[in-house]
Amino acid sequence: MIIDVRLGARSYPIVVERGALASAGARLKALGVGSRAALLSAPGILRAHGKMVTESLEEAGFAVTTVEVPDGEAAKTLVVAERCWNALLDAGLDRTSTVLALGGGAVGDLAGFVAATYMRGINFVQLPTTVLAQVDASIGGKTAIDHPRAKNLIGAFHQPRLVLSDPTTLLTLPQREFRSGLAEIVKHGVVLDAAYFDDVAASAQALLDRDPAALERIIGGSCRLKARVIERDEQETDLRAVLNYGHTIGHALEAATGYERWTHGEAVSLGIVAEARLARRLNLTDAATVERQERVLRAVDLPTSADTVDADAVLAAMRRDKKSRDGRVPFVLAPTIGTFKLVYDVTPADVRAVLASLAR
Ligand SMILES: NC(=O)c1ccc[n+]([C@@H]2O[C@H](COP(=O)([O-])OP(=O)(O)OC[C@H]3O[C@@H](n4cnc5c(N)ncnc54)[C@H](O)[C@@H]3O)[C@@H](O)[C@H]2O)c1
Ligand SMILES: [Zn+2]
Repeated sequence: MIIDVRLGARSYPIVVERGALASAGARLKALGVGSRAALLSAPGILRAHGKMVTESLEEAGFAVTTVEVPDGEAAKTLVVAERCWNALLDAGLDRTSTVLALGGGAVGDLAGFVAATYMRGINFVQLPTTVLAQVDASIGGKTAIDHPRAKNLIGAFHQPRLVLSDPTTLLTLPQREFRSGLAEIVKHGVVLDAAYFDDVAASAQALLDRDPAALERIIGGSCRLKARVIERDEQETDLRAVLNYGHTIGHALEAATGYERWTHGEAVSLGIVAEARLARRLNLTDAATVERQERVLRAVDLPTSADTVDADAVLAAMRRDKKSRDGRVPFVLAPTIGTFKLVYDVTPADVRAVLASLAR
């Protein structure tokens, strides 16, 4: 499946296909970029999937430099970015060259930041290898490194020239990482597309079994939905906020527990449950709509309850949210499956009530 992201001069295709990595060289060559390329990745991912990419690039005539970066979030620092800039300079990359990111969202965010800043911006290609990166992080051009005071604080918008998502790379992903990415898929269905939501619900077991055909279809569907949002709001002014469904409370749960208790996707799953119940509490939706969301989350093995949530800590984290304006955080809520509404007047008491309900 090929999804075009239409952004004028910054348009690019997302290819979601089993075996897509083997076409990296030919597809990059077709873009008419220069012959030098740098492949940024983490050691474990390189061992599992690096050879396929390097061989494909070399067969197409590219001179490839491989740059190993630390695994996970540890890659997103200024020190690592500087090491990458140095490696690019040593390898003679110029303004026609290409940086490729092979890995999860962490590698993608770092490599995108390096590509955005090296010589004021060079070609960038995403080769995402986690569910989260394939349906979310690799699309839309947000790049970032972390600041000691907050995640993703330093960054730039820099769209890739190409995204190649190979669902077979997901077969090596640890189970907890795999499940976590499914939360973003559920999110896309709830706020953007009822038919897609139904397909996800009906495919829950096939997804958990990592059935390649189901993965390709569902991941492709998510990419299409996110692409449509990006096309209408590239720089995150209003519509793109819809992608924060489940994240206002989800992020706060993560931050309030030091990013240790839950993975991002687990926190988003709880965030979706809490925000669905918030919509019910505010009389914006009915009980069946809430129940359908909880049911699909349970079906893909994501958490829908949590005891001992520290409501004070969660509310404090919400006040520090980058998206808060004048101390108020806007909520994206879902009146029906497939629709959303921005709500600005949620009170701390409402948030406390839905947080308390998570313990049940
Ligand atoms: N730019 C955006 O729009 C955007 C959106 C959402 C999240 N993000 C960022 O993405 C990051 C999270 O991404 P993530 O969830 O992919 O985590 P991650 O990149 O940290 O990867 C998770 C773990 O899986 C391993 N891994 C990756 N692919 C693998 C594979 N195929 N087989 C085996 N192991 C593999 C990684 O080495 C790592 O240990 C965060 O830094 C977040 O800020 C960015
Ligand atoms: Zn998310």
